[in-house]
Amino acid sequence: MIGSSPASSGVDWFEILSENYMVPGGKPLAMLERVRRDYPVVMHGVSMSVGTPQGPSDDYLRALKALVERVQPLWVSDHLCWTGVHGRNMHDLYPLPYTEEAVAAVVRNVRRVQDYLGRPILLENVSSYVSFTADTLREWEFVAAVAEQSDSLILLDVNNVYVSSVNHGFDPHAYLRALPTRRVQQIHLAGHSVQAGCIIDTHDQPVADPVWALYADALRRFGPVATMIERDDNIPPLPELAAELRRARQLAAAVLTEAEAA
Ligand SMILES: [Fe+2]
Repeated sequence: MIGSSPASSGVDWFEILSENYMVPGGKPLAMLERVRRDYPVVMHGVSMSVGTPQGPSDDYLRALKALVERVQPLWVSDHLCWTGVHGRNMHDLYPLPYTEEAVAAVVRNVRRVQDYLGRPILLENVSSYVSFTADTLREWEFVAAVAEQSDSLILLDVNNVYVSSVNHGFDPHAYLRALPTRRVQQIHLAGHSVQAGCIIDTHDQPVADPVWALYADALRRFGPVATMIERDDNIPPLPELAAELRRARQLAAAVLTEAEAA
């Protein structure tokens, strides 16, 4: 949302799924280069797997860096999770035990990634449906500790905070209050599905009203942070998506006005 829109599309920048373009050539990459000529791009990965003891492979980091050099993104992000072990990618975002030992492992991996890329990365909080009996930290303490100790940034998924708050029974506003404000560089909004006993982060619905309310709270705390709306399935006509983007912009403007008046 932040930045100037080069065309009448109403979109300021695009977020790409890094792994779709970590190849030497082909049509998707050619399309990306066309988009990149007109718009800033941010890179968002789903397979860095910073939550395993070994962290990402050298091959993965080499391909990621090649894409960074090609795309020159505004920033590079991935998830605070693990996605596989022993060289196997299970293509899902698995939660970590919230322990000091896990903080240390993630910090070691993130520092290695940042040293290799020569830039800080953003890590996104994931939604979760289970917790570990080994947990000694609350999720927000874990997210903040990783960011501070690895000197990395946060991609705050407001929908994920809401989904996990319902599933685990915590206060989502307390989560936001616990994060270091200067480290939140991007926000995700998305829709979810309510099912018997829990909420699933399906990205196939409009952003829900409680998530809009939490987003307003996030804007009050973190300022007008660059925001993207994720929609992966059940995709409506573009005007409906553009209306959600307008609502996010209006909310950001209203919170800014509120802050100036105060
Ligand atoms: Fe997200």
